[in-house]
Amino acid sequence: MSQVNVESRPATAPAAVQTEPVLQVKNVSKIVPTGDIQLTILDNVSLEINQGQSIAIIGPSGAGKSTLLGLMAGLDTPTSGSISLGSHEITAMDEEGRARVRAELVGFVFQTFQLLSSLTALENVALPLELSGHKGAAAKAKEYLEQVGLGARLSHYPKQLSGGEQQRVAIARAFACEPKILFADEPTGNLDQTTGGAVSDLLFDLNDKNGTTLILVTHEQRLAERCSRIVTIDDGRIVD
Ligand SMILES: Nc1ncnc2c1ncn2[C@@H]1O[C@H](COP(=O)(O)OP(=O)(O)OP(=O)(O)O)[C@@H](O)[C@H]1O
Ligand SMILES: [Mg+2]
Repeated sequence: MSQVNVESRPATAPAAVQTEPVLQVKNVSKIVPTGDIQLTILDNVSLEINQGQSIAIIGPSGAGKSTLLGLMAGLDTPTSGSISLGSHEITAMDEEGRARVRAELVGFVFQTFQLLSSLTALENVALPLELSGHKGAAAKAKEYLEQVGLGARLSHYPKQLSGGEQQRVAIARAFACEPKILFADEPTGNLDQTTGGAVSDLLFDLNDKNGTTLILVTHEQRLAERCSRIVTIDDGRIVD
């Protein structure tokens, strides 16, 4: 039997358990044609994020924050560079491959909620579960709506709900799929301060409870400061 002499291990040896990055962005640029000129929206951005971290992406309007979030979530493709989610290099995949990775790993919460107006709160949360073949989608949707305090609003349609309630449905929908990574683009941007505070509490509670990696874009300093790391983007580049 082989024996390992721990004492003789060099002081620089890596710790036994290393956290693998759950998201790797390497030298990503996004350049789009606008009329006669090429507009550089993101310029050689690199970033690594570990499982369970919470990251705030901040910066001025037009800096490229939403563009970067969409690329990291596999909703869009860069002009150059590579992005990996877990062990999948999504930039080497076609849309079908990216859709599979998104279904497996990613949840998304948008500033404008993006609920389907013809579906009830319960149906909105259950739909992605059903699409991914989850058995007992309705029961799970109900469980997550209860967690966000909307157990009494299951059969209400989006227009019958306030902005804060709609965002809570969107958060329940994102978390119900139990994603490894949750992306949120200004999740409190359309909410008043008190409701926004309650929605942020919910994001961080669910983040803690489920060990989800939380990556959010925000203009709100208070929300950014609750994250374990802040990344600042200006004019398409990471500046800190
Ligand atoms: N498809 C596109 N074609 C042309 N320009 C685009 C496209 N997508 C984004 N842009 C431009 O790229 C820049 C960055 O946009 P982005 O939405 O990422 O900014 P942002 O940092 O999220 O801003 P905000 O804080 O206002 O939401 C903006 O100037 C925007 O107009
Ligand atoms: Mg934006």
